[in-house]
Amino acid sequence: MCGIVALVGSREASPILLEGLKKLEYRGYDSAGLATISTKGSSDRGFITCKKAKGKLVNLLNLLSKDGAPGNIGIGHTRWATHGKPEVRNAHPHLDSSDQVAVVQNGIIENYTLLREKLQKQGIRFVSDTDTEVIPHLISEALTRLKQEGVASKGEMLFLAVREVLNLLQGSYALAVIWTETPDVLIVAKNKAPLLIGFTQGEFLCASDSTAFAGFTKTVLPLEDKELALLTPLGVEIYDSEGKRQYRKPSLIVGSEKNIDKGQFRHFMLKEIYEQPETAEQWIARFLPDKLPTSSPIAFPFKDSLYDSIEAVQILACGTSRHAAMVGAYLLEQFSGLPSTVFFASEFRYAPPPLAPNILTIGVTQSGETADTLAALMMESERRSTLKDDLFSSRVLGITNRIESSLARQVTNIIDIGAGLEVGVAATKTFLGQLLAFYGLAIMIAARNKNRSIQEINDICEELKLVPNYLRDLINNHNKLTEKLAYQFVNTKDVIFLGRGINYPIALEAALKLKEISYIHAEGLPAGEMKHGPIALLDHKVPVISIATHGVVFEKVLSNAQEAKARNACLIGIAPESAETQIFDHLLPIPKVSEWISPLLTVIPLQLLSYHIAAQRGLDVDQPRNLAKSVTVE
Ligand code: M6R
Repeated sequence: MCGIVALVGSREASPILLEGLKKLEYRGYDSAGLATISTKGSSDRGFITCKKAKGKLVNLLNLLSKDGAPGNIGIGHTRWATHGKPEVRNAHPHLDSSDQVAVVQNGIIENYTLLREKLQKQGIRFVSDTDTEVIPHLISEALTRLKQEGVASKGEMLFLAVREVLNLLQGSYALAVIWTETPDVLIVAKNKAPLLIGFTQGEFLCASDSTAFAGFTKTVLPLEDKELALLTPLGVEIYDSEGKRQYRKPSLIVGSEKNIDKGQFRHFMLKEIYEQPETAEQWIARFLPDKLPTSSPIAFPFKDSLYDSIEAVQILACGTSRHAAMVGAYLLEQFSGLPSTVFFASEFRYAPPPLAPNILTIGVTQSGETADTLAALMMESERRSTLKDDLFSSRVLGITNRIESSLARQVTNIIDIGAGLEVGVAATKTFLGQLLAFYGLAIMIAARNKNRSIQEINDICEELKLVPNYLRDLINNHNKLTEKLAYQFVNTKDVIFLGRGINYPIALEAALKLKEISYIHAEGLPAGEMKHGPIALLDHKVPVISIATHGVVFEKVLSNAQEAKARNACLIGIAPESAETQIFDHLLPIPKVSEWISPLLTVIPLQLLSYHIAAQRGLDVDQPRNLAKSVTVE
């Protein structure tokens, strides 16, 4: 989703802005731009150079290599279209009518239509279809008035103008503003969209997420909602919406600053699939060390109040994170005995269930920035506080891969899945990390509630410790197998994935993976539901991919697969090798493991198959069209 980078300092801004934007590319975007202010040839007033290009960053780079963008201050943006098509005129930065104020924004200004109409009545001509363009015009209008009123300094004038305009905006935003009359002042602000300030000596970089700071600084301060910051080469001042100065210390970004590169792999997605054994290994080392007490078999750092007297679990998530949550809910119910419900975070926000006591609420988001998930958690916290549910804050848990994210600041109890930065838009290793987090939680709750015997707890823990090796073998064996199989499906139009029980969410996840990166229509179904309608879709052109692992529904899934075969569907099995699984036209074999841990393995051939189909279709696997890695708008 949109990425913001803004700099004030003493070096040429545009190369640093471009470098920052490059690091935010993985978030997904369809156009890019930047604006700088230079004062060359004039003493106190500068001029704006604004460059924008449709498509990839390289197009912007080409533009800049011709004419450049001089100045030590600037704002940059990668845009993921919401209001208006991905065209140059809709790309950010947006300027006021006199080209004196430039703004980049990430978010959605919900009342922009009214604001735009008002400005149009005053004679303002809009050049874009965006919601953002109202902002520079409004700031310009406020500046004109403040000038007449004779506000002391220009910097203060810009600050007051931005603050005034923010009060008019409804919705979510993170934004950065520059003005030609203050060529050393950068104003940034945020509300319900992320924005962080990175500190170095005499130079400050603001960005939508911490990856942009790699190679620049590790000292970072996240802005809170409704705060504004005034940055000059001399320092940073932070204010709340009332104009009260806020004092907070920046903190150090944890974790090593790894280079974002694909290594020997053609795509990040394939690299990240290959990183999964390591993700599992590290997870086990952190949370499942040997010799933990049987009453508390997982090394989670949470207080007893997180688990005590919990009667049910509600989980809020979107996309792949929701699929991980569904496996989690299955484990929490079937293994740990706790009623568990998964909600689309976007639906929960406007139709939550009636409040019930003693609920554990879990928010799952790999990026930690998904607007719907954060807002759903916030809404839940607010409605529980009206009921004086004092235990809510201790009974809310976040599962994320980004420990420095908004989720980690919003929620005290966090499971950091520690999978390392995931660049491919299609989640793979973070999905595995989320699954593992739920295994940990389910085991912990089952042990504490004595819902499972010590033997059962030990068995699942021991089996989990074998997962890294299983994954290693699976990935190595299936990479070639799936690459070969993928050739057959390059021109396929529809695919059906079937799963049941704990593997039904894996069927959903497989369908999502295939859709996002190959643009092939795919549906994931509980295998037993196929005969209630979707079976009408089947013929020889629709492959059916069936997940059949030993356990309570093994035979049932095979019968459902037979129903598809009888309709001439090409049948692919994700199943252990056995006499029964010879019914499949193609088998992607998985080892014989307990049904409990099977989702950790069944997902692997499905990720690889989607990857190879998309790669063979020649698509942009890592940055599929229309998608964003971090969905920071509603
Ligand atoms: O960062 P989150 O886990 O909250 O993201 C949620 C979804 O946007 C995300 O899982 C999306 O579905 C991915 N593109 C899946 O590959």
